Amino acid sequence: MQHLVDTDDFSKEQIANIMHDAATFKKEMPSKLLEDKLLITLFFESSTRTRSSFEVAAKRLGASVVHLDPSKSSTNKGESLEDTFENLAAMEPDGVIIRHEFNNTPKKLANKNLTPILNAGAGNYAHPTQALLDYFTMLEHFGELKGKTIAIVGDIVSSRVASSGIRLFTRMGMNVVLVAPKPFMPDNDLPKYEKLSNIIDKVDIVMSLRAQLERHKAPIFEDYDEYAKEYCITKELFEDRDILLLHPGPVMRNIDISDEMLTDKRSKVLTQVKNGVYVRMAILKALLLDN
Ligand code: NCD
Repeated sequence: MQHLVDTDDFSKEQIANIMHDAATFKKEMPSKLLEDKLLITLFFESSTRTRSSFEVAAKRLGASVVHLDPSKSSTNKGESLEDTFENLAAMEPDGVIIRHEFNNTPKKLANKNLTPILNAGAGNYAHPTQALLDYFTMLEHFGELKGKTIAIVGDIVSSRVASSGIRLFTRMGMNVVLVAPKPFMPDNDLPKYEKLSNIIDKVDIVMSLRAQLERHKAPIFEDYDEYAKEYCITKELFEDRDILLLHPGPVMRNIDISDEMLTDKRSKVLTQVKNGVYVRMAILKALLLDN
């Protein structure tokens, strides 16, 4: 039984297969490869893209999906997450897709080996399907990513998208640089810059991130318009440079990225969402069929 807690659960060969399958599915919708499969989603945190993308991906492949709304489940009556999970696993689904505020929840449930766990976002630690869809979107554009430089900009320390992305992109031979004000900067060995303008001529890709206000124990900036003056991605900053612009969503318009840049053809924000379905289809195939 294989789980997806983070992208290092996949070998490089599996990642190559996922990229290949996703590209094939994008060209032509496959047959209902997962017709007899059933997945349960269990989202303890809000989600727009990830939950619907998993559901669309599963349904495109013919699988059924059952949603459990934790706010209306027995975790509200004092049942532990483990017990809730074991009850769901007793119904013999083919996988459970989980999002949770704690970093170690997917790993803890995966260790029980009752059903494949697909991590749809855990704390600020990991969001492997987002990292893989971001990788796919870059690969689709550049063809080869070894040696390419991506600048991750914004609230990096709170971001599971950044954590998973950093691990995957460096493993695949990309250069990652971090751009953030001090309170948003994680502690690691990667090159760090306080301003994007200091490194912009050396980057091939910019990944902008949302300030995750709901994860800050106390407000970090009083005024996000002031923050935006330095960190919002604008046309004035990019000029006519050939840089791919990514954002995992939800975008805080004119704080993360300007309205004008969102409609610029270098912005791949909606392409990421579109690709997310194909990449999740390929991931479901890898975990439920190829194993
Ligand atoms: C992110 C998340 O929830 O981790 N969104 C996503 O899944 N695409 C990022 C965010 O909430 O800012």
